[in-house]
Amino acid sequence: MSMEKIVSLCKQRGFLFQSSEIYGGLQGFWDYGPLGVELKRNVKEAWWREMVNCHDDMSTLPGAPSPFAMEGLDCTIIMHPQVWKCSGHYDLFHDYMVDCKETKKRYRHDQLNGRWVEAKGRKAFITAPAGDDEVELIQKHALKHFNLRNKNIDDLVYDGDVMCLTEVEDLSQVVGPETKKIGTLTEPREFNLMFKTYVGALSGEEGTAFLRPETAQGIFVNFKNVLDSTRNRLPLGIAQIGKSFRNEITPRNFTFRSREFEQMEVEFFCHPDQSQDWYKFWRDRRLAWYHAYGISEGRLIMREHHKEELAHYSIGTADIEYAFPFMAEGEYGELEGIAHRGDFDLRSHMEGKLDEKTDPLELQLGEDGKPKWKGSGKDLSYRDDLSGEKYIPHVIEPSAGADRATLAFICEAYCEDEQPDENGKMQSRTVMKFHPRLAPIKAAVFPLVKKDGMPEVAKQIYLDLKKRFKVFYDEKGAIGRRYRRQDETGTPYCITVDGQTLEDQTVTIRDRDTLEQQRIKIDEIAAVIQQRLDQ
Ligand code: GAP
Repeated sequence: MSMEKIVSLCKQRGFLFQSSEIYGGLQGFWDYGPLGVELKRNVKEAWWREMVNCHDDMSTLPGAPSPFAMEGLDCTIIMHPQVWKCSGHYDLFHDYMVDCKETKKRYRHDQLNGRWVEAKGRKAFITAPAGDDEVELIQKHALKHFNLRNKNIDDLVYDGDVMCLTEVEDLSQVVGPETKKIGTLTEPREFNLMFKTYVGALSGEEGTAFLRPETAQGIFVNFKNVLDSTRNRLPLGIAQIGKSFRNEITPRNFTFRSREFEQMEVEFFCHPDQSQDWYKFWRDRRLAWYHAYGISEGRLIMREHHKEELAHYSIGTADIEYAFPFMAEGEYGELEGIAHRGDFDLRSHMEGKLDEKTDPLELQLGEDGKPKWKGSGKDLSYRDDLSGEKYIPHVIEPSAGADRATLAFICEAYCEDEQPDENGKMQSRTVMKFHPRLAPIKAAVFPLVKKDGMPEVAKQIYLDLKKRFKVFYDEKGAIGRRYRRQDETGTPYCITVDGQTLEDQTVTIRDRDTLEQQRIKIDEIAAVIQQRLDQ
């Protein structure tokens, strides 16, 4: 599976476009085209259905300690700035970057790799962006730096393997990835990833606000509102889908790392004594969701974080990772994190200080020795009316990226094969094998030929189906070509009106994957499609 082919199909067929393309694009921002917007809506709908609307709150689900409630929420993107102080994002949500003084380019410190290379009696650490082709890029770059031709490639002597720039202490011997000069990279500096903006007419610090870097905090600060207004008991999950913004230093890999993206997050509030069991439950449940929508076993892994990898709030985190085609062999990219956040967030929004177990004390206190931020002072604890027990709930957070999930479904669906056409001749085709519920277009309707009253019947079928499903009508070109065009968009069913339709009111329904054609009555089409979608 080649990423270039997938990117090209996405553009050609209208899944994804570069944002502001006619002005040269804006790095890290992407637009969804007519097919992409349907696909992404279906991904979000599949998530919302399972998490909220169709959640069975009466039964104990397999692996769950008890039944539980689920509610939805939709919060604002800009929130009170204090939210980000108490969440830790204001002080702790940063990446380290290095600047090149020569090219004025900026890089994430941990995303440059390099190798010590010796030639002409000198030694330098030659860098390149981390990735599949880094070894090749480092070699090319080394030739340039040492002013050597290709034929002198053997004059380069490597000292050790490729390693991350973070492992190099002294940057004076480093050659940045886009310059020939040595020692042009600055020391790594912290770079906060939150986008700043100003609220109202105040343009100074007073009016400063931030675009949310995660949807989660809107849920935490509304925990009490949701609990009181729905009269639920714990355990309770609150779900939200919405845009988040991060000023990523190096957005890359198509939509994988964007600066504006959508998240699908659940904050699941439970008793501290049960939180480990719920953590396990959510890890398994979320993994099963991706499989249910067609991601194959071999391309998906669950990876438990090492202690040093944990975010500032997390007691434990597991990532669900996918083998994206732009990753090196054996490497995976994160689709979703399932984090055990303990009582960090609720406590912090109450008291305004971080949990000492998860965060060093010096980060919590300002130079004057006072806590750096103040909580709301509101009591966000929970009192169980049955047992009378009062406690600050623990939180399990399955946090997924809608864009990353959509990209994984696109990569997984992409397939090239050969199929016989109507004359039995083998034809190569590109087919997007989306799960039918995710497919942007559910069915296409064709008249076999553009005469004998077939278009009129087909158009009526199309208009009737359109009331229930996203459907497409096409009468242009040979029928085989029309089938293949729909295969490229991932349409699971094609309905054809032919000579027999005019006699007995039946049509054929073709399955995208098996190519099987079944004859069904016109008035059964909608029910057959619905039944197949529900399977
Ligand atoms: N509330 C927890 C949280 O935000 P995260 O691991 O930083 O955790 C959760 O983000 C998910 O959001 C990721 O697993 C990923 O799918 C998505 N995500 C994060 N940053 C992203 C970016 N720059 N572009 C696209 N998706 C992103």
